[in-house]
Amino acid sequence: MAKLPDHVGVDFGTYSVKAVELKNIASSPQLVNLGSQLTPKGVVNSEEKQDQKKLGEALKLLYSNSRMKNSNVVMALPEFSVFTRFLEFPGVKPEEIKGAVHHEAKQYIPIPIQDVQMSYITIGFNEQKNAPRVLLVAAPKKIVQIYMNIAKYANLDLIAIETESVAIGRAMYRATRRKNCVVLDLGAKSTDMSIMLDGALVFSQSISIGSDSLTQAIMNKFNFDYNRAEQFKRNYGLAPNILEGRIYSILSPIVESIMIEVRRGVEFYKNKTMSIAPVEYLLNGDGALLPGLAEYVSKTLGVNAQIANPWLNIRVDSKFKDIILKTGASFSVAVGLALKDE
Ligand SMILES: Nc1ncnc2c1ncn2[C@@H]1O[C@H](COP(=O)(O)OP(=O)(O)OP(=O)(O)O)[C@@H](O)[C@H]1O
Ligand SMILES: [Mg+2]
Repeated sequence: MAKLPDHVGVDFGTYSVKAVELKNIASSPQLVNLGSQLTPKGVVNSEEKQDQKKLGEALKLLYSNSRMKNSNVVMALPEFSVFTRFLEFPGVKPEEIKGAVHHEAKQYIPIPIQDVQMSYITIGFNEQKNAPRVLLVAAPKKIVQIYMNIAKYANLDLIAIETESVAIGRAMYRATRRKNCVVLDLGAKSTDMSIMLDGALVFSQSISIGSDSLTQAIMNKFNFDYNRAEQFKRNYGLAPNILEGRIYSILSPIVESIMIEVRRGVEFYKNKTMSIAPVEYLLNGDGALLPGLAEYVSKTLGVNAQIANPWLNIRVDSKFKDIILKTGASFSVAVGLALKDE
């Protein structure tokens, strides 16, 4: 496959659009530039041209505010819009994998095959079953079209596209060299979960509960406006003893409902791959900054959870150090996209 030129990774979150530009990605990656911009409400993933134009405008603004110049961009498709399936093909030879994937894909993808853009990644080999392992990724063509339109409206060249989970998996692997881990991305509207085995992504799912649900719960309970509730969330989070434990008792059931889905995902993965579940958990997204979250996840799941740092192993100029210290883990998807080399 052709190598990609230096480019900007662009991640359209429902809360903010994030962009990261790196150079020397193959040898010694260095941060060239980064930026973020609040996302206009209700426009992400919309098929309306109006909404796509608004996202194009937001991206233009991000470019001008952060003086970003490189017009080559790689974008991520939101996790909830793509289908990923982990497959094994007993007895299939390497040169037969492509045909086997196309033949089998129909039964795994819930929409007509002619309406999706399909790709797959080979991720190793199951020795016991003599079976190549493959991650099948299928994106509805109309979703891919949305991102092509946004790039056009922003006057940028979309040179590649991939899913958020593949991107974040790359970022985490390059940052930590950890081969087996669970990656959580706590965004505004959803929590995406990926499981890495031997350094490759083998499972992903999008849980439709995000950090905004926590803000909303505080608003409802205390009759606060959004800003005040957001402030309480960010200041107190899951700290157990604040305000007689009242914030904790509002937030913990919501976080618990995310944990239930995470446990389900892990069980599914264990059954499917016959592998031991990883105990290392890396928390990404600005939702990961919730005070007490890493401790909570560690305790309830009996694992070792920590806030991820996608910038390890990337050279960063001191002028970016502040922003990276504050919100570094929200750029993980964009870093992973910027690190994509083929
Ligand atoms: N310090 C903080 N503590 C807790 N939550 C925070 C903090 N800072 C931001 N958040 C929350 O993080 C969320 C935004 O995270 P992020 O920017 O990763 O989301 P996004 O990628 O835009 O959304 P999504 O991935 O759901 O589309 C918001 O709900 C915001 O309230
Ligand atoms: Mg996100």
